[in-house]
Order: sequence, then structure tokens, then C-alpha cells
Amino acid sequence: KRLILIGPPGSGKGTQSPIIKDEYCLCHLATGDMLRAAVAAKTPLGIKAKEAMDKGELVSDDLVVGIIDEALKKPSCQKGFILDGFPRTVVQAEKLDVMLQNRGTKVDKVLNFAIDDAILEERITGRWIHPASGRSYHTKFAPPKVPGTDDVTGEPLIQRKDDTAAVLKSRLEAFHRQTEPVIDYYAKKGNVVNLPAEKPPQAVTAEVKTALS
Ligand code: AP5
Ligand code: ZN
Repeated sequence: KRLILIGPPGSGKGTQSPIIKDEYCLCHLATGDMLRAAVAAKTPLGIKAKEAMDKGELVSDDLVVGIIDEALKKPSCQKGFILDGFPRTVVQAEKLDVMLQNRGTKVDKVLNFAIDDAILEERITGRWIHPASGRSYHTKFAPPKVPGTDDVTGEPLIQRKDDTAAVLKSRLEAFHRQTEPVIDYYAKKGNVVNLPAEKPPQAVTAEVKTALS
């Protein structure tokens, strides 16, 4: 399966991705995770991306298209993939179409994590992540077994720098202005499934499985 997950910050893309990935043996490509790793490692890519990310704005189309083009070559992506947080502009979507055409393939389904903006601040400000694996927790909705530590490795959890109420505002603005048109772009092709993303995590997983069955 070749899937795209679209939704605003905190809608649950990163929570559902590992579950879908394991169920269908796909690779999980999250541009946000890849960019954060590049920022942490201070690579040239990370240095270019950091300023926009800290402000909650999108980084340039060319940067992210380049990362995805490279990542899709991985052997683990040949059976199928989940794109989490990409494409986020119509230009990215068009470039992805060309990339996949060149590989003789195309997107099967676009899962649209539909949710009201009002719910997202609590989700975002309560999130804690394990940076090495990308696993995320929530102080109220998905607490780790030991507060502040990853369930699998026992390593410390951190909060994302852009997970503040103020930066969330600009991330939401970017979503509505630049990413919602991407949903229309795929809707015209007829492969969008709308998911009720405000439901509890297990209920959203069940909806995803139905959508993919
Ligand atoms: P990115 O990392 O993609 O962030 P985002 O899109 O803002 O999405 P989030 O990761 O915040 O939300 P999520 O949907 O994954 O939520 P999660 O499942 O963790 O991008 C970051 C930045 O990188 C961008 O701002 C931009 O600068 C740059 N960037 C990335 N891609 C780009 C691109 N293609 N082009 C240009 N720039 C790009 O859940 C959130 C919290 O809620 C967690 O704590 C979780 O435990 C909890 N939760 C999850 N589901 C539920 C539920 N059903 N009920 C209750 N709680 C839940
Ligand atoms: Zn995410």
C-alpha cells in the first residue's frame, strides 16, 4: 500500500503510523521526524530547516521533496510506504506524482485526519516524545509507564520546541492555507478517506483499518 496521511498538528498521524506500518509491512516516512533529526545533527539540511520549523512555518518545497525522493529508494519502502506530513503543499503533491510516475507507481489512498482546531492545543502541549524512535506520549491521553521515560528504552522523553500554544497558531495557519488545498488536490482524483480523528486512539486505529480493508 502507498499511503499519505494528512492532518493538522496533533491530529494523530505520528500515533497511527507505527501501527499501520507494522500491520501492512510498510516504511514510515515522516518529513517532520527526518527534519528534526537533521536539525539535531546540525547537518546542512538541518541548518537550513531550523528557522522555519522553530517559527511553525513550512520549510522549502525543494528541501522536503529532496528528502522524500532519497528516502523512497530505501529497500524497506519498495513494498509500500506511509508518507506522514508530506506532501504539505500542492507543489509537493505535484512533484510526488512525477516521482512516483517515474517509478511506475502511484498513491493508493490519502487518509485525511479530520479534527476541530479547538482540540489540538491540549494534544500538542501535553505531548512528550522519544526523539530516537519518534514514539510519542501524552501526559493525559497516552502516559508513559514511568513519567518522563520511554516505555521501550527507558530513555528520557523531551518536548518538541514547536509544541507551544504560540507556535501551534502559526502551524495551524500554515495547515489551513497551504495544506488543505492538498486534500482538494487528491479529492479530485477520488482517493481521499476522511477519518474522525477526534475519537480515542484505538477508535481511530479501527477506522484506519476499515478504510484500508
Ligand atoms: P511535523 O513533525 O510533521 O508536525 P505536524 O504536522 O505539525 O504534526 P505533529 O507531529 O505535531 O502531529 P501528529 O499528527 O503526528 O500528532 P501525534 O500523533 O504525535 O512537522 C514539523 C515541522 O517540520 C513543520 O512545522 C514544518 O516546519 C516542517 N515540515 C515537516 N514536513 C514538511 C513538509 N512536507 N513541507 C514543509 N515543511 C515541513 O499526536 C499528538 C499528541 O496527541 C501526542 O501526544 C499523542 O499521544 C496524542 N494523541 C494522538 N492521537 C490521539 C487521540 N486519538 N486522542 C487523544 N490523544 C491523541
Ligand atoms: Zn507527527
